[in-house]
Amino acid sequence: MLLEMKHASKTFRASRGSGPVHAVKDATLQARPGEFVAIVGESGSGKSTLARMLLGLIPASSGGIELDGVLLAGMSRSELRHYRRSVQAVLQDPAGSLNPRKTVRRAIGEIVRLHRIASGRAAVDEKVMQVLRLVGFDQAETVLDRYPHEVSGGQRQRVLIARAIVLDPKIIVADEAVSALDASVKAGVLRLMNDLKERLGIGYVFITHDLPVVKKVADYVYVMKSGEIVEEGTKEKIFSDPDHPYTKTLLAASPVLEVIDQR
Ligand SMILES: Nc1ncnc2c1ncn2[C@@H]1O[C@H](COP(=O)(O)OP(=O)(O)OP(=O)(O)O)[C@@H](O)[C@H]1O
Ligand SMILES: [Mg+2]
Repeated sequence: MLLEMKHASKTFRASRGSGPVHAVKDATLQARPGEFVAIVGESGSGKSTLARMLLGLIPASSGGIELDGVLLAGMSRSELRHYRRSVQAVLQDPAGSLNPRKTVRRAIGEIVRLHRIASGRAAVDEKVMQVLRLVGFDQAETVLDRYPHEVSGGQRQRVLIARAIVLDPKIIVADEAVSALDASVKAGVLRLMNDLKERLGIGYVFITHDLPVVKKVADYVYVMKSGEIVEEGTKEKIFSDPDHPYTKTLLAASPVLEVIDQR
């Protein structure tokens, strides 16, 4: 499976007092199962806009997204359903991505029902517990009836990952998914994501401004600046021998890169 963005641009219309915003300009990238692709760049460089296009949440102004050569914008209803299952989102939480009034059982269970992965209370519960165990809740039954505010930030992020993988996605688009977590919790969630890559073959498009995180987990890196991808390469290349002046600046401005490595 191959997910591609081909020469995609996104321009937001002019609003009162300002001209149009060229949030993403001519971006081309590839993502595949089993590969950890990171997108880095400063605030406002267009990372979230690119993620929203990849997830089909907003249309590209020009260029497009393809899954195995089929253009997202031209997909039939059933192709689109397949796309939405194959390419899942895990977004930054600050409690926003989970409905505060739904227990973990309900938040994941309703997706199981909606997509007819299982039916009947016992079977749905079993499926929910199965994905909770996959994301590291060894005693899944103890979190089933908790509300989002009754679990920690790191656990909430695991619940979000569980909710994404219940659909058996091939690629997860994660926008600042660990940025709000403190260092040890962050390391745990990253280990989990890496583990799911190895065990389930999940691929990631992982968006972050956090270079130590990229250094720890990425296989391949795209660097964005002012809406453009200015450099791409393997993690080793980007960190040891960057070409673009902007990448060099980004690396120089980053906090000590060894911090996470020592864990
Ligand atoms: N819906 C919108 N309407 C108008 N402009 C927008 C919209 N969404 C984003 N933008 C603009 O597009 C540019 C890129 O924004 P985007 O959110 O993609 O950046 P980002 O790299 O994700 O930043 P951050 O690291 O702060 O999350 C910014 O100038 C932003 O103000
Ligand atoms: Mg963003």
